[in-house]
Amino acid sequence: MAKAKEAKSKKKSTKSKTATYHNYIGGEWVKSSSGEWFENLNPADTSDVIGRFPRSNQADVNAAVEAARDVATKWRRTPAPKRAEILFKLARILERDKQLFSREMTREMGKVLKETGGDVQEAIDCTYFTAGEGRRMHGFTTKAEMPNKYAMCERQPVGICGLITPFNFPMAIPSWKLIPALVCGNTVVMKSGEDVPLSTINLVKACEEAGIPKGVVNVVNGFQEPGEALVKHQDVRLISFTGSTDTGRIIAEECARSNKIVSLEMGGKNAIIIMDDADIDNAVEGSLWGAFGTSGQRCTASSRLVVHKKVYKKFTEKLVERVKKLKVGNGLDEKTDVGPVINQAAMDKILSYIEIGKKEDKATLACGGNQLTKGDYKKGYFIEPTVFTDASRNMRISQEEIFGPVTTVIPFSDLNEAIDIVNDVKYGLSSAIYTQDVNQAFYAMQELYTGICYINSATIGAEVHLPFGGTKGTGNGHREAGTQVLDIFSEWKSIYVDYSGKLQKAQIDAVEI
Ligand code: UN1
Repeated sequence: MAKAKEAKSKKKSTKSKTATYHNYIGGEWVKSSSGEWFENLNPADTSDVIGRFPRSNQADVNAAVEAARDVATKWRRTPAPKRAEILFKLARILERDKQLFSREMTREMGKVLKETGGDVQEAIDCTYFTAGEGRRMHGFTTKAEMPNKYAMCERQPVGICGLITPFNFPMAIPSWKLIPALVCGNTVVMKSGEDVPLSTINLVKACEEAGIPKGVVNVVNGFQEPGEALVKHQDVRLISFTGSTDTGRIIAEECARSNKIVSLEMGGKNAIIIMDDADIDNAVEGSLWGAFGTSGQRCTASSRLVVHKKVYKKFTEKLVERVKKLKVGNGLDEKTDVGPVINQAAMDKILSYIEIGKKEDKATLACGGNQLTKGDYKKGYFIEPTVFTDASRNMRISQEEIFGPVTTVIPFSDLNEAIDIVNDVKYGLSSAIYTQDVNQAFYAMQELYTGICYINSATIGAEVHLPFGGTKGTGNGHREAGTQVLDIFSEWKSIYVDYSGKLQKAQIDAVEI
């Protein structure tokens, strides 16, 4: 993906004025041993260079892993409430710098300021909530089979964690991985998203200021090479990845070779069901937000709207009318509703799906469908918010993840059919239903096979204290956020204490009553 940004950057000679950023290894800000750099461009205006970042290689990853290994025992032995104390300090720094981080995020990633504020807020919430685990991280005691014997279990850190993060939530998603990894006592090497390295660097600078010891958090920037080196490194015990299903599958295969723990958060093709008794205006608002928030670049985006035939006309008319009024533009402009997409490759993919919708699927293009190229638009990656109507469940635009400002409206006639349409895709991240009928709401809530389900709300907007993740092709069974994330970043140790003073054989010795 980032290749597109890179290609454009070569045309410029802005190096003298451009801010330079570094990798963070063993508590030092260092260049890549490759001696190479890449430029990070604003997707709303590619003449705006955010900065140059190290194009890291395998040697940089080796150095980062070594730094993480050197301090692993010290950090593991630091009492968890003490680790948490530093993380609470980190949360306060993120709060202090929220505005600055949001602006810088909008500049490098494109989504509107309100949303980048939400992104940083999600990192703050995640840090406060998860740091609290430093004083909980409950294990349990239970009863042993034999007399004079004690049984209990506790969480232990897994070791060095490799965190590979995407572009769409540049601070929230890294924090979902980083904070639980740290509170559990692991050390980490992060590979920043190549389109949004600054937000990861901002997060890590805050870690440095909070006093996280050198080597506990390391960052390498760059493209595929450092990511691959991290996944293949024999001393890395765990990979946590958020990104495309194709890359996730390759990572899972590679992790299987060295028996690494791997947690994957991948694609979605989320749907909202709109019943005939729904509050239509509320459903239209929710659909707009779910489909076009973050320019549709969310794994949780409402990319399918499954609408009851009785309200289909009314709903689609209102929806299209509202979509046409959305203002596309630079996310730094307060009036903008929908920002650019991340880069040229994303733009090409989204436009190719619009072509598929028109030519191959033959759905009705109700609005949008074009790249915006005039005036200021020509400097960035802008696409009109696009709605396809009269779609059917098997069309490619109804089945495949587009990851852009495109949604597909599919009519249905009864609730079971709608549920079947929602479940009939390879992903299972998020789903939603708009209805005033409590019986229908509860029935749908039970039958929708997704990791997240909303009643009378869009498919986006998960909160950090509940588990986040999906079924089927979306993941591999893990959940981030909530307390459930601890199951990724810690392993259980069961402990038996025999104080009988003799050999007692479980399952074999008879216990006298
Ligand atoms: C994503 O969709 O990639 O639930 C993450 C939400 C956000 C996180 C989304 N809190 O929409």
